[in-house]
Amino acid sequence: MEVFSDLEALSRAAAERLVQLARTAVTERGRFDLVLAGGSTPRRLYELLAGEYGDNIAWHQVHLFWGDERCVPPDRPQSNFKLAQETLISRVPLPAENVHRIPAELEPPREAAAAYERLLRSHWPQAAWPAFDLVLLGLGADGHTASLFPGDPVLEEQESWVRAVLAPPAYEIRQRITLTFLAINSARAIYFLVSGEVKVPALHAVLEQNGSALPASRVRPAEGEPRWFLDEAAAERLQRAQGGR
Ligand code: 6PG
Repeated sequence: MEVFSDLEALSRAAAERLVQLARTAVTERGRFDLVLAGGSTPRRLYELLAGEYGDNIAWHQVHLFWGDERCVPPDRPQSNFKLAQETLISRVPLPAENVHRIPAELEPPREAAAAYERLLRSHWPQAAWPAFDLVLLGLGADGHTASLFPGDPVLEEQESWVRAVLAPPAYEIRQRITLTFLAINSARAIYFLVSGEVKVPALHAVLEQNGSALPASRVRPAEGEPRWFLDEAAAERLQRAQGGR
């Protein structure tokens, strides 16, 4: 867990570490399989990756995936793909065939999920689960991550890598497509980016109440622990003993 003064500093630190992971992955395996987060927190990270950190990444060896998507066309403001398209994809020399968008506009949603699962399985044929190099995640104020919401039976999914889910009524776009824990937790590395005091209660529940039932507390990479990039507003009152700055 690392606490930074603000979202800018948090995003820069995450960009620096992501560049290192990308370099290692490309050196060792010839590609960097990166899962992008949705929501608004990662916007600055994506801008930095397209900007001053862009020259440090072998974009031709990068493959982009998404942790979740809202069931809207990719050109709508609510689309997680649109955020990445505007801030990152349109600004870097990433081959179009390396951009693996969730076709969340497909009807019915379960067909969109099945289509994405087929795409992932074609990337990791005969594998029991995908092996992403890095999964980027956000944290909802209710402790959700990707589109894995508290109390949803999808939290117990043991077979599918991708599922169609319904977000709680409070959310503007309820129909979503999400990676399951099976797909997320098989990653080599997982980064949470969390900014803003609205996240304080969820962060406490996840980081300080062991075994809390919140979805974000059930995220574990294949080896080790998730890395948390927090700003001071979100990390307020967190015990520094957890190795924060
Ligand atoms: C989504 C995201 C979701 C997001 C959190 C935090 O599709 O909304 O995948 O899990 O990461 O809700 O969102 P903010 O970054 O906007 O606070």
